[in-house]
Amino acid sequence: MLHRNYSLKQYNTFGLNATANYFFEYEAVHELVDFLAETDLKSHQVFFLGGGSNVLFTGNFTGLILYSGIAGKEIVYEDHDYAYVRVGAGEDWDSFVQWCVENEYGGVENLSLIPGHVGAAPVQNIGAYGVEAKDVIDVVEAVNFETGKICKFLNSECEFGYRDSIFKNAFKNKYIVTRVTFKLSKKPVFVLNYGNVSNYLHDKYGDPTLENIRKTIIAIRESKLPDPSRTGNAGSFFKNPVVTDDVFKMLKEQNPDIPSYEVDGGFKIPAAWLIDQCNLKGYTSGGAKVHDKQPLVIVNTGDATAADILALSDHVRKKVEDNFGIILHPEVIFI
Ligand code: EPU
Repeated sequence: MLHRNYSLKQYNTFGLNATANYFFEYEAVHELVDFLAETDLKSHQVFFLGGGSNVLFTGNFTGLILYSGIAGKEIVYEDHDYAYVRVGAGEDWDSFVQWCVENEYGGVENLSLIPGHVGAAPVQNIGAYGVEAKDVIDVVEAVNFETGKICKFLNSECEFGYRDSIFKNAFKNKYIVTRVTFKLSKKPVFVLNYGNVSNYLHDKYGDPTLENIRKTIIAIRESKLPDPSRTGNAGSFFKNPVVTDDVFKMLKEQNPDIPSYEVDGGFKIPAAWLIDQCNLKGYTSGGAKVHDKQPLVIVNTGDATAADILALSDHVRKKVEDNFGIILHPEVIFI
């Protein structure tokens, strides 16, 4: 269905008031393909929107938004070890995780409670608590925006990186994800080595089972992260920066307690720590606020505008750069 001057308030978890000149919602791949064939899209800016949990509408969007409502889950193949589950891009991510846990399919339990739709999982390579979507994605199906052709991409072709994939780079605005097939394990190997996950699990829920891990992750997330259905936010606003070995050595001399994780190309430093060191928890700019419990998150206290959020983001970036010489890059996509 095509709407004009459509409100995006319900379609972005920041809860910002913005409109799109055109908004097309489709529930089947053929509806999308037909629409692309029938519509002259050359003169329009186009954005492919998922659950809206990682976007900041910086103003009214004058182009066309394509919004996937493709639903459905089917087991396409299974053997003793794995189940291959093909899921529509418009399915709610956490409902899918819950379904996996209920059916004893392992692999996504650490990704419990991440807001957004399944279609965004490969684009953003969503991740949490030691697991990333790339660890379980088998195939991504997508429609070529220019030709309307349906294509399949194997995991190895998706160029996954930290919150990154080919769909954010070479294929940006070229392919619209329609379905994702996940390779889920019937004999799961649990990932419990991130932060306090293991201790929390044993203290509160007991043995490591898919259900107990899901409960643990939900409890940890709920203790730190604001619920977007109550307080507008888009999860981590910035990515965790990676600095070279030399820069890290210098930082460590000046800040012996600096937390870090060794990664390819140097050391990853939690942006939350950098922001916390600048004493910015609770700092506000108009209706936007640095979250008190997890300073990597910017929240809408009720009546924030995009300008408030941008001003706050600039302030945080400037403080971190002044204090540590590190430039933070947004994880949230600005539109
Ligand atoms: N920290 C502080 N002060 C705080 C909070 C955290 O100094 O108030 C420091 C601590 O040193 C802590 C470290 O930051 O050990 C890391 O914190 P946390 O484990 O909460 O993770 P994060 O690196 O801040 C990332 C993801 C989250 C994901 C968590 C858990 C990014 C940008 N963010 O946050 O993802 O849930 O790890 O895996 O990588 C999201 O992408 O929207 C998101 C929420």
